[in-house]
Amino acid sequence: VSKEVTLMKQAHHFASEYYHHLLLHTEEGENALNYLEERGFSKEIIEKYKIGWSLPSWEALTTLLERKGMDLQEIEKTGLIIRKENELKYFDRFRGRIMFPVYDESGSVIAFSGRILQKSDEDAKYLNSPESPIFQKSQVLYNLDKARLEIRKHQNIVVFEGFLDVIAASKAGITNGVATMGTALTSQHIIKINRLTSNVTLCYDGDKAGMEAAKRAAGSLQAQHIQTEIAIIPDAMDPDDYIKTYGEDAFRTKIIEKPHSYLSFMMIVSKRDKNFNNENDTLQYIQEILEILSERTSTVERDLYVRQLSQETNVSEEAINQHLRKLQGNKA
Ligand code: UTP
Ligand code: MN
Ligand code: MN
Ligand code: MN
Ligand code: MN
Repeated sequence: VSKEVTLMKQAHHFASEYYHHLLLHTEEGENALNYLEERGFSKEIIEKYKIGWSLPSWEALTTLLERKGMDLQEIEKTGLIIRKENELKYFDRFRGRIMFPVYDESGSVIAFSGRILQKSDEDAKYLNSPESPIFQKSQVLYNLDKARLEIRKHQNIVVFEGFLDVIAASKAGITNGVATMGTALTSQHIIKINRLTSNVTLCYDGDKAGMEAAKRAAGSLQAQHIQTEIAIIPDAMDPDDYIKTYGEDAFRTKIIEKPHSYLSFMMIVSKRDKNFNNENDTLQYIQEILEILSERTSTVERDLYVRQLSQETNVSEEAINQHLRKLQGNKA
């Protein structure tokens, strides 16, 4: 490991302790601590994930790093501090945000995500560290350091859309959860997953964006021959909202333990914005599902889903089968 990388990780470790201290033990951190408590974060969770608070100041962290004699020019490459234009001076990237450290697989802090306290039109809800020599978004799975053994033990990994969902789920006993850092699931993420297990449960947000992201993630996983099931959160909630509304037991028993197959998930999602009294909607629905079905080799599976499609849409099984054969013919 190079000297630079060691220094960058040291600076992140130091910053995470500092932010954590500000949240728990200072007056400036009280609002943020109240916010977290209202959202159901216990002290134990705050400790476990080393959640913190960054002061609404331009140089609080920069000054401390400087006083420790750390090489600011190197640390600037991680985006933790930013260089002022045309000057050899630096300022803090994260100001007035709840700080979530991001760890690598061996448990070193390599980045942060900072959440604003209040919704605002000017500022993004989450501000993340930029790509750097120690942080590559396309590689990092939030919580993998803590979840690894659990993933191996259960031979299953749950992939969430947001890291707050990972934290909420872990409180509910789902300890094999990870999240991407606001990016799609990449082939590098999938390689990491594949080393631990070949069973994935996707549990993305229940809104349209989440379902679309789940569709794409499921596609990428299946292309790598990973067994993929999708847990669906109702009413456009996300896992964290669901747990808050219906409780931890319901989340485990009704959502995580009852995931859908890819086909069943696609039928549910595709049906959402369709009305089977409308001919175009009906045709589009049948087309979408048959396209997936035509890739399947099991005749039992085809038979089963053709019957279900027919019942749902009132189109005869015969007509659906004919359409399916045509799709398969086009491929052959
Ligand atoms: P969500 O908007 O679903 O976040 O984005 P959330 O976890 O539900 O957050 P709360 O409950 O509103 O606090 C999912 C993920 O997308 C990334 C983050 O990684 C987040 O966990 N994201 C979202 C960003 O990077 N920037 C944003 O402004 C918003
Ligand atoms: Mn502590
Ligand atoms: Mn979302
Ligand atoms: Mn969400
Ligand atoms: Mn949320």
